[in-house]
Amino acid sequence: MNKKMKELIIEMENYAKDHNVPIIRKDAIAFIMKFIKNNNYTNILEIGGAIGYSAILMASSNPDVKVTTIEKDEINYMECLKNVKKCDFDQKVNVVFQDALDLNLSEENKYDLIFIDAAKGQNMKFFEKYKYFLAPGGAIITDNLKFHGYVGHSDEIESKNLRQLVKKIEGYIEFLNTNEEYTTKFYDVGDGLSISVRKDETA
Ligand SMILES: C[S@@+](CC[C@H](N)C(=O)[O-])C[C@H]1O[C@@H](n2cnc3c(N)ncnc32)[C@H](O)[C@@H]1O
Repeated sequence: MNKKMKELIIEMENYAKDHNVPIIRKDAIAFIMKFIKNNNYTNILEIGGAIGYSAILMASSNPDVKVTTIEKDEINYMECLKNVKKCDFDQKVNVVFQDALDLNLSEENKYDLIFIDAAKGQNMKFFEKYKYFLAPGGAIITDNLKFHGYVGHSDEIESKNLRQLVKKIEGYIEFLNTNEEYTTKFYDVGDGLSISVRKDETA
C-alpha cells in the first residue's frame, strides 16, 4: 500500500470516529482482504458502503479487484465518492446510491464475494435477495454477528429496540445454520464474521 493510500485510510478512520460512522474493524478487513487474495476473487459486491473504507481496502487487495458498493445514505455516499476519487479508484470502485432492498441489478452481474454490512436487522433479506448474484465458487460474508457481544444474550437486554435487533441477528445465525443451500462457517474475528458457500460446491 502506498503512502497516499495509507494516509487516506487513517483519514477515513478518523472521519468515521468523529462522525460516528460504523466501519469494519481492522482485523476483520485484514481477514477479508486475505480471503480475497487466497481465492483470487476479482468481482465484489458490498451492501452498505458507508464512506468507502472497506470497499477501498477490498479493492486494494489485488490489482484486478473491482468493487461495487451500495449505500443509501446521501452524506455517506458523497463522502464515499470523495474518498474513491482521492485514491484514484474510480475504475475500481463503483458506488451506487440506493437502498439495496430496492435496487434491481442486472441478472448478468455475478460476484465472487458478496459482503453484507448494512442494516443489521435486514441481513436475511439481503442474503435472500443477493444470493442469486453469487458467481460459482463465490462466498457471502456477513459482518457484526456478535454485535458487540450482545448476540446470545438478547433476553437480558433492557432496551426494546436493541433487544429486537439482536434477536434478528440471532435469527439470522439460525437461518445460516439451518440453511439447506449454503454451508456457513463462523469466525471470531472483529465483531464476528460468517462465510457462506453453496453446499453443492463444498462436497
Ligand atoms: C456498518 S456501515 C458500513 C461500513 C462499511 N462497510 C465499512 O466497513 O467501511 C453500514 C452502512 O449501510 C448503509 N445501509 C443501511 N441499510 C442499507 C440499505 N438497505 N441499502 C444500502 N445501504 C444501507 C448505512 O447507511 C451505513 O452507511
